[in-house]
Order: sequence, then structure tokens, then C-alpha cells
Amino acid sequence: MELVVNATEGINRAARILREGGLVAVPTETVYGLAADATNGDAVAKIYAAKGRPSFNPLIIHVDGVEMAKRYGRFDERAIKLAERFWPGPLTLVLPLAESHGLAPAVTAGLDSVAMRQPSGPMAELATLLDRPLAAPSANSSGRISPTLAQHVAVDLGTKVDLILDNGPCPVGLESTIISLVGETALLLREGGLDRSVAAQIVGPLVKPKPDANVAAPGMLSAHYAPRIPLLRDFSSPMPEGMAFLGFGEDMHEPGLNLSPSGDVNEAARNLFAMMQELDRSGARSIGVAPIPHHGLGAAINDRLQRAANGSGDGDGR
Ligand code: TXA
Ligand code: MG
Repeated sequence: MELVVNATEGINRAARILREGGLVAVPTETVYGLAADATNGDAVAKIYAAKGRPSFNPLIIHVDGVEMAKRYGRFDERAIKLAERFWPGPLTLVLPLAESHGLAPAVTAGLDSVAMRQPSGPMAELATLLDRPLAAPSANSSGRISPTLAQHVAVDLGTKVDLILDNGPCPVGLESTIISLVGETALLLREGGLDRSVAAQIVGPLVKPKPDANVAAPGMLSAHYAPRIPLLRDFSSPMPEGMAFLGFGEDMHEPGLNLSPSGDVNEAARNLFAMMQELDRSGARSIGVAPIPHHGLGAAINDRLQRAANGSGDGDGR
């Protein structure tokens, strides 16, 4: 049987595999996710094993709407407003865990909160077909660049998944924005595909937890999204021998790729991970990246680039 199939044609096969406790890579608007039945402990354990993910790092569950989400998390007024406005979309809400939720304990890694989002496309469709949420981290080995193409998943995790649904490139290209509403202050746990100033219009200014507050955001390791070769941000001096450039707008040098020739941060977000992967595999010895503006999705792009710079150059993936 083929491993990579068209998302529409493969949806029933995917549902069958998930019901039987298997792993399926499923596209969302943000990145490809590595999905399993969130109520099946053995299936969820396979996610951690396939990614080499530390067990203290909890997973996001993917639902088909607020109604399903309410079985797992306790919604207050702010949460309802955010979900109504931005779901389906690149927004994950961390909420207090509901009673008798039935999730596999490994999903929340022992926390008394749960991260949830309603994505668009086949992931939500599968949640409907199973009438239960899918636990899904990004479908990459832990510490490596998140996949925005089915091919990325096939190269990285091809031997570890039962099926990969192909829906072409992910339209947003960065993981979801994560907002915690566990306490009174809305916390921005991760910059992401939803412009945070847009969310702030509904819940007021978002507070970023201190960088060492690992309890609030257990997965936000400072080194992440790492290419194998060194990555240097805000690069402007003459390029050394063997460097490939990741340009933006008019700031472009050869050899290299341009995230957005027109200087559009949304286009740059869409291209970021695929271009990082391409340069990482191009035979170049290092990657220099042009300065990226911080407005809109630029904040999330700069966040990913900083983590990529911190974790890059180890040659074998952490
Ligand atoms: O766009 C996305 O969010 C993608 C797609 C597949 O949905 N998923 C994704 O998952 O990026 P992952 O596992 O790569 O990142 C999930 C993040 C981790 O940093 C994890 O620590 C955090 O969400 N998280 C999960 N549950 C949490 C909780 N209860 N409290 C705080 N952070 C949580
Ligand atoms: Mg990830």
C-alpha cells in the first residue's frame, strides 16, 4: 500500500488506521501533524516514540469545533470568544482540564490543563469521523524543522508512520499561536500563525512568560527548529565561502533563496520551513538570513529563526 496518498482520497483509510491505534501524518493550515487517537494511550505513546519527544512535553489535541472541545477543556467567556472568532485556524487555547475527559494521560503529560485547537481541513474531518480528538504534534523528529510538505514527513518519519495524507503546501506555514487562559492574565506561550495583535483585540494585551518559566510552556525549548548546518540571523557582511543566503525583499544574495521577493511576511512564513530545509540539504556549509521585520507574522518568523540559530549546527539532530 502506498505511504503518501492524496488527503481526500485517503481520508477513510486514515480514519481506519487511527481507530486501530495507528499513526497518520495529517496536513493542517499551519504544518503537518503526526496524529493519533487522543484517547488511546498506546497510540499516543507511539507519537512520543516516533518523534523521540521527551515525555514531559504535552501534545495539542485537535477537535472539530467548540462543542467537542468542551468535553476536554473548561471554557470561560474569553475562550469562547477566541474560539468563535479564530477557529478553525492557527490558534491553540490552553484551558483547565475538564473532569472525566477520557484523554490518555500522556497527552497532557500530567498537567491539569489541555491545549486544543480546531484546524481546518482533513484533521478536523478525521476528528468528526472518529467522534474524538486527535493528539498531534508537528510531524518532525524532535528538535528538527517542522514539515510544511508531505515530502518533508516522508523523508524524516517515513518508516515510523502508517500513512501520510498529502494536501500540498500548508497555507500558513508556521505552527499555531498558543494562548493560555488558565489564569486571569492571557499568556502568549508561543508566537505563531495567528498575528497576536489580532487576538489581543479580544482578550487584551498578551503577556509573555519569562524565558525560564518552563512550567507554563514545557515545550518551548530555546533551541529548536534546527538545521544541521549553522544558521546566522540578521546576516549582512560579505558571505563566507560555502554560505547559502535566505533573503527577504530586496535583501538577497546568491547563492540562496528568497523568502518573499516582494517583502511580504505572510509569504515568508509560508516559505520559511521549506526553504530552511532546502538550504540545509543543499550542500552549503552555513545559512545566513536577512533581517526580517517584526510586524504581523514577522514576530513568529523571528522567534523560529532565533531557535533555529540556537540549535543549529549539531549535525545529527537532538
Ligand atoms: O500548528 C500547530 O500547533 C501544530 C499542528 C500540527 O497543530 N502542532 C504543534 O505541536 O506545533 P507541537 O507539539 O509541535 O507543539 C505543541 C506545543 C508544545 O510546545 C507543548 O509544550 C505545548 O504546545 N503544550 C501542549 N499542551 C500544553 C499545556 N497543557 N500547557 C502548556 N503548553 C502546552
Ligand atoms: Mg513541534
